[in-house]
Amino acid sequence: MSAPGHVTLVGAGPGAADLLTYRAWRAIARADVVVHDRLVPSEVLEDLGDDVEVIDVGKAPGAHKVPQDEINALLVRHARAGRHVVRLKGGDPFVFGRGGEEYAACAAAGVAVDVVPGVSSALSVPALAGIPLTHRGTTTAFHVVTAHTRTGEQDLDDVAVACVTQHAATLVVLMGVSSLPAIVTRLLDAGADPDTPVAIVERGSTPEQRVTRVGLDLAAKRADELGVRAPAVIVVGDVAAPGLLEGVSDRRDVVLGDARG
Ligand SMILES: C[S@@+](CC[C@H](N)C(=O)[O-])C[C@H]1O[C@@H](n2cnc3c(N)ncnc32)[C@H](O)[C@@H]1O
Repeated sequence: MSAPGHVTLVGAGPGAADLLTYRAWRAIARADVVVHDRLVPSEVLEDLGDDVEVIDVGKAPGAHKVPQDEINALLVRHARAGRHVVRLKGGDPFVFGRGGEEYAACAAAGVAVDVVPGVSSALSVPALAGIPLTHRGTTTAFHVVTAHTRTGEQDLDDVAVACVTQHAATLVVLMGVSSLPAIVTRLLDAGADPDTPVAIVERGSTPEQRVTRVGLDLAAKRADELGVRAPAVIVVGDVAAPGLLEGVSDRRDVVLGDARG
Protein backbone atom coordinates (compact mmCIF):
# COMPACT_ATOMS: atom_id res chain seq x y z
CA MET A 1 0.00 0.00 0.00
CA SER A 2 1.37 3.46 -0.91
CA ALA A 3 2.15 6.15 1.68
CA PRO A 4 -0.83 8.38 2.46
CA GLY A 5 -1.17 11.43 0.29
CA HIS A 6 -2.79 14.67 1.22
CA VAL A 7 -4.55 17.68 -0.22
CA THR A 8 -3.49 21.29 0.32
CA LEU A 9 -5.94 24.00 -0.67
CA VAL A 10 -3.71 26.87 -1.77
CA GLY A 11 -4.79 30.46 -2.35
CA ALA A 12 -3.13 31.83 -5.50
CA GLY A 13 -3.94 35.50 -4.90
CA PRO A 14 -5.59 37.87 -7.38
CA GLY A 15 -3.45 37.15 -10.44
CA ALA A 16 0.11 38.46 -10.08
CA ALA A 17 2.55 35.64 -9.38
CA ASP A 18 4.37 37.71 -6.74
CA LEU A 19 1.17 37.93 -4.72
CA LEU A 20 1.34 34.23 -3.87
CA THR A 21 2.60 33.74 -0.33
CA TYR A 22 5.90 32.04 0.50
CA ARG A 23 3.93 29.19 2.04
CA ALA A 24 1.95 28.80 -1.20
CA TRP A 25 5.14 28.51 -3.27
CA ARG A 26 6.52 25.91 -0.84
CA ALA A 27 3.34 23.81 -1.08
CA ILE A 28 3.42 23.99 -4.88
CA ALA A 29 7.08 22.94 -4.94
CA ARG A 30 6.15 19.71 -3.08
CA ALA A 31 3.15 18.88 -5.29
CA ASP A 32 2.76 15.72 -7.37
CA VAL A 33 -0.53 16.97 -8.77
CA VAL A 34 -1.81 20.54 -9.21
CA VAL A 35 -5.55 20.94 -9.71
CA HIS A 36 -6.18 24.55 -10.69
CA ASP A 37 -8.87 27.11 -11.41
CA ARG A 38 -9.02 29.57 -14.29
CA LEU A 39 -7.91 32.67 -12.35
CA VAL A 40 -4.46 31.53 -11.26
CA PRO A 41 -1.16 33.05 -12.44
CA SER A 42 0.14 31.26 -15.54
CA GLU A 43 3.76 31.65 -14.30
CA VAL A 44 3.03 29.25 -11.46
CA LEU A 45 1.96 26.52 -13.86
CA GLU A 46 4.81 27.20 -16.28
CA ASP A 47 7.35 26.71 -13.47
CA LEU A 48 6.16 23.21 -12.55
CA GLY A 49 8.41 20.22 -13.22
CA ASP A 50 7.61 17.76 -16.01
CA ASP A 51 6.77 15.11 -13.43
CA VAL A 52 3.93 17.19 -11.94
CA GLU A 53 0.47 16.38 -13.24
CA VAL A 54 -1.50 19.54 -14.00
CA ILE A 55 -5.28 19.34 -14.13
CA ASP A 56 -7.33 22.34 -15.26
CA VAL A 57 -10.78 22.38 -13.71
CA GLY A 58 -11.23 26.08 -14.45
CA LYS A 59 -14.64 27.51 -14.91
CA ALA A 60 -15.43 30.19 -17.45
CA PRO A 61 -18.00 32.73 -16.13
CA GLY A 62 -21.43 31.08 -16.16
CA ALA A 63 -20.04 27.75 -17.34
CA HIS A 64 -19.08 25.09 -14.83
CA LYS A 65 -16.43 23.20 -16.72
CA VAL A 66 -16.01 20.46 -14.14
CA PRO A 67 -18.85 19.89 -11.65
CA GLN A 68 -17.89 20.50 -8.02
CA ASP A 69 -18.53 16.91 -6.93
CA GLU A 70 -16.18 15.69 -9.65
CA ILE A 71 -13.48 18.06 -8.41
CA ASN A 72 -14.00 16.77 -4.88
CA ALA A 73 -13.75 13.16 -6.08
CA LEU A 74 -10.61 13.97 -8.10
CA LEU A 75 -8.85 15.41 -5.05
CA VAL A 76 -9.76 12.38 -2.93
CA ARG A 77 -8.74 9.89 -5.62
CA HIS A 78 -5.28 11.37 -6.14
CA ALA A 79 -4.62 11.72 -2.41
CA ARG A 80 -5.66 8.10 -1.84
CA ALA A 81 -3.12 7.11 -4.49
CA GLY A 82 -0.47 8.55 -2.17
CA ARG A 83 0.05 11.81 -4.01
CA HIS A 84 0.55 15.32 -2.68
CA VAL A 85 -2.25 17.27 -4.26
CA VAL A 86 -2.25 21.06 -4.45
CA ARG A 87 -5.67 22.48 -5.14
CA LEU A 88 -4.76 25.94 -6.48
CA LYS A 89 -7.57 28.45 -6.23
CA GLY A 90 -7.83 32.15 -7.07
CA GLY A 91 -7.58 34.62 -4.19
CA ASP A 92 -8.27 32.90 -0.87
CA PRO A 93 -9.70 29.36 -0.97
CA PHE A 94 -12.37 30.15 1.62
CA VAL A 95 -13.69 33.39 0.07
CA PHE A 96 -16.40 32.56 -2.49
CA GLY A 97 -14.16 29.77 -3.73
CA ARG A 98 -16.04 26.64 -2.59
CA GLY A 99 -12.89 25.71 -0.69
CA GLY A 100 -15.00 24.77 2.30
CA GLU A 101 -16.80 22.13 0.27
CA GLU A 102 -13.54 20.68 -1.00
CA TYR A 103 -12.08 20.64 2.50
CA ALA A 104 -15.18 18.90 3.86
CA ALA A 105 -15.17 16.31 1.07
CA CYS A 106 -11.55 15.40 1.81
CA ALA A 107 -12.16 15.25 5.55
CA ALA A 108 -15.26 13.08 5.06
CA ALA A 109 -13.22 10.69 2.93
CA GLY A 110 -10.53 10.46 5.61
CA VAL A 111 -7.99 12.33 3.47
CA ALA A 112 -5.58 14.68 5.24
CA VAL A 113 -6.26 18.25 4.13
CA ASP A 114 -4.90 21.66 5.05
CA VAL A 115 -5.19 25.23 3.80
CA VAL A 116 -2.72 27.88 2.70
CA PRO A 117 -4.61 31.17 2.87
CA GLY A 118 -4.38 33.43 -0.14
CA VAL A 119 -4.48 37.15 -0.82
CA SER A 120 -8.15 37.66 -1.55
CA SER A 121 -9.21 39.86 -4.43
CA ALA A 122 -11.82 41.33 -2.11
CA LEU A 123 -9.12 43.22 -0.22
CA SER A 124 -6.14 43.30 -2.53
CA VAL A 125 -7.77 44.46 -5.75
CA PRO A 126 -9.19 47.66 -4.21
CA ALA A 127 -5.84 48.22 -2.48
CA LEU A 128 -3.95 47.94 -5.77
CA ALA A 129 -6.29 50.58 -7.18
CA GLY A 130 -5.47 52.91 -4.29
CA ILE A 131 -8.78 52.32 -2.51
CA PRO A 132 -8.61 51.69 1.24
CA LEU A 133 -11.63 49.67 2.39
CA THR A 134 -11.53 51.51 5.70
CA HIS A 135 -10.17 55.00 6.12
CA ARG A 136 -10.07 57.10 9.28
CA GLY A 137 -12.72 59.77 9.09
CA THR A 138 -14.44 58.12 6.10
CA THR A 139 -15.54 54.62 7.05
CA THR A 140 -14.63 52.09 9.72
CA ALA A 141 -16.07 48.88 8.29
CA PHE A 142 -16.49 46.93 5.07
CA HIS A 143 -18.87 44.23 3.89
CA VAL A 144 -17.99 41.71 1.17
CA VAL A 145 -20.77 40.06 -0.83
CA THR A 146 -21.22 38.09 -4.02
CA ALA A 147 -23.78 39.11 -6.60
CA HIS A 148 -23.80 35.58 -7.97
CA THR A 149 -26.13 33.36 -6.00
CA ARG A 150 -27.01 29.69 -6.36
CA THR A 151 -29.93 30.68 -8.58
CA GLY A 152 -27.73 33.01 -10.59
CA GLU A 153 -29.73 36.05 -9.55
CA GLN A 154 -28.56 39.30 -8.01
CA ASP A 155 -29.53 39.20 -4.38
CA LEU A 156 -28.11 42.07 -2.31
CA ASP A 157 -29.12 41.44 1.27
CA ASP A 158 -30.43 44.11 3.62
CA VAL A 159 -27.09 44.48 5.35
CA ALA A 160 -25.40 45.20 2.04
CA VAL A 161 -28.03 47.79 1.18
CA ALA A 162 -27.75 49.45 4.60
CA CYS A 163 -23.99 49.74 4.19
CA VAL A 164 -24.63 52.15 1.34
CA THR A 165 -27.88 53.86 2.27
CA GLN A 166 -26.73 54.55 5.84
CA HIS A 167 -23.06 55.15 4.98
CA ALA A 168 -22.42 52.34 7.48
CA ALA A 169 -19.65 50.51 5.66
CA THR A 170 -17.85 50.12 2.35
CA LEU A 171 -19.64 47.57 0.15
CA VAL A 172 -17.39 45.21 -1.83
CA VAL A 173 -19.11 43.13 -4.51
CA LEU A 174 -17.48 40.11 -6.15
CA MET A 175 -18.86 38.48 -9.30
CA GLY A 176 -21.02 41.56 -9.81
CA VAL A 177 -20.38 42.74 -13.37
CA SER A 178 -23.41 41.14 -15.03
CA SER A 179 -25.62 42.10 -12.07
CA LEU A 180 -24.47 45.71 -11.94
CA PRO A 181 -27.68 47.19 -13.41
CA ALA A 182 -29.78 45.27 -10.86
CA ILE A 183 -27.45 46.25 -8.01
CA VAL A 184 -27.66 49.93 -8.95
CA THR A 185 -31.45 49.78 -9.16
CA ARG A 186 -31.74 48.00 -5.81
CA LEU A 187 -29.53 50.55 -4.05
CA LEU A 188 -31.20 53.59 -5.61
CA ASP A 189 -34.67 52.20 -4.87
CA ALA A 190 -33.61 51.76 -1.24
CA GLY A 191 -32.69 55.44 -1.05
CA ALA A 192 -28.96 55.47 -1.75
CA ASP A 193 -27.46 58.82 -2.77
CA PRO A 194 -27.12 58.77 -6.59
CA ASP A 195 -23.69 60.39 -6.19
CA THR A 196 -22.34 57.58 -3.99
CA PRO A 197 -18.86 56.84 -5.35
CA VAL A 198 -18.39 53.52 -7.18
CA ALA A 199 -15.12 52.02 -8.36
CA ILE A 200 -14.94 49.00 -10.63
CA VAL A 201 -11.54 47.35 -10.73
CA GLU A 202 -11.04 44.82 -13.52
CA ARG A 203 -8.24 42.25 -13.69
CA GLY A 204 -6.59 43.63 -10.58
CA SER A 205 -2.85 43.06 -10.13
CA THR A 206 -2.36 42.15 -13.80
CA PRO A 207 -0.90 44.39 -16.51
CA GLU A 208 -4.48 44.84 -17.78
CA GLN A 209 -5.77 46.29 -14.53
CA ARG A 210 -8.34 49.01 -15.20
CA VAL A 211 -10.15 51.18 -12.71
CA THR A 212 -13.43 52.90 -13.53
CA ARG A 213 -14.83 55.46 -11.11
CA VAL A 214 -18.34 56.79 -11.45
CA GLY A 215 -21.35 57.90 -9.39
CA LEU A 216 -23.81 55.16 -8.44
CA ASP A 217 -26.63 56.30 -10.71
CA LEU A 218 -24.42 56.12 -13.82
CA ALA A 219 -22.37 53.08 -12.85
CA ALA A 220 -24.18 50.49 -14.97
CA LYS A 221 -24.38 52.74 -18.02
CA ARG A 222 -20.70 53.68 -17.83
CA ALA A 223 -19.64 50.06 -17.31
CA ASP A 224 -21.61 49.07 -20.38
CA GLU A 225 -20.10 51.90 -22.47
CA LEU A 226 -16.58 50.95 -21.42
CA GLY A 227 -17.09 47.21 -21.93
CA VAL A 228 -16.33 46.33 -18.32
CA ARG A 229 -15.80 42.58 -17.99
CA ALA A 230 -15.23 40.00 -15.26
CA PRO A 231 -13.20 39.46 -13.24
CA ALA A 232 -13.85 42.70 -11.43
CA VAL A 233 -14.30 43.92 -7.89
CA ILE A 234 -16.91 46.62 -7.37
CA VAL A 235 -16.45 49.01 -4.46
CA VAL A 236 -19.37 51.18 -3.36
CA GLY A 237 -18.92 53.92 -0.79
CA ASP A 238 -17.05 57.08 0.07
CA VAL A 239 -13.64 55.37 0.01
CA ALA A 240 -14.11 54.89 -3.75
CA ALA A 241 -14.18 58.63 -4.40
CA PRO A 242 -11.45 59.85 -6.77
CA GLY A 243 -8.78 61.82 -4.97
CA LEU A 244 -9.38 60.34 -1.52
CA LEU A 245 -5.70 59.44 -1.39
CA GLU A 246 -3.18 61.52 -3.22
CA GLY A 247 0.09 60.15 -4.58
CA VAL A 248 -0.93 56.48 -4.46
CA SER A 249 1.00 54.46 -7.00
CA ASP A 250 -0.13 51.50 -9.10
CA ARG A 251 -3.35 53.10 -10.32
CA ARG A 252 -2.79 51.98 -13.89
CA ASP A 253 -5.18 53.09 -16.57
CA VAL A 254 -7.48 54.99 -14.31
CA VAL A 255 -10.70 56.08 -15.95
CA LEU A 256 -12.10 59.00 -14.03
CA GLY A 257 -15.55 58.00 -15.04
CA ASP A 258 -17.82 60.75 -13.81
CA ALA A 259 -19.90 60.60 -16.94
CA ARG A 260 -22.18 63.36 -15.73
CA GLY A 261 -19.93 66.15 -16.94
C1 LIG B 1 -15.34 32.84 -7.63
S1 LIG B 1 -14.84 34.36 -6.96
C2 LIG B 1 -13.38 33.85 -6.15
C3 LIG B 1 -12.80 34.84 -5.20
C4 LIG B 1 -11.48 34.42 -4.63
N1 LIG B 1 -11.60 33.23 -3.83
C5 LIG B 1 -10.81 35.53 -3.83
O1 LIG B 1 -10.63 35.41 -2.62
O2 LIG B 1 -10.44 36.52 -4.44
C6 LIG B 1 -14.26 35.21 -8.41
C7 LIG B 1 -14.44 36.70 -8.31
O3 LIG B 1 -13.36 37.28 -7.59
C8 LIG B 1 -13.09 38.56 -8.13
N2 LIG B 1 -11.71 38.57 -8.64
C9 LIG B 1 -10.83 37.58 -8.56
N3 LIG B 1 -9.64 37.95 -9.08
C10 LIG B 1 -9.80 39.22 -9.50
C11 LIG B 1 -8.94 40.17 -10.12
N4 LIG B 1 -7.66 39.88 -10.41
N5 LIG B 1 -9.43 41.39 -10.40
C12 LIG B 1 -10.70 41.71 -10.11
N6 LIG B 1 -11.56 40.85 -9.54
C13 LIG B 1 -11.11 39.62 -9.21
C14 LIG B 1 -14.11 38.82 -9.21
O4 LIG B 1 -15.22 39.47 -8.62
C15 LIG B 1 -14.44 37.41 -9.64
O5 LIG B 1 -15.67 37.36 -10.29
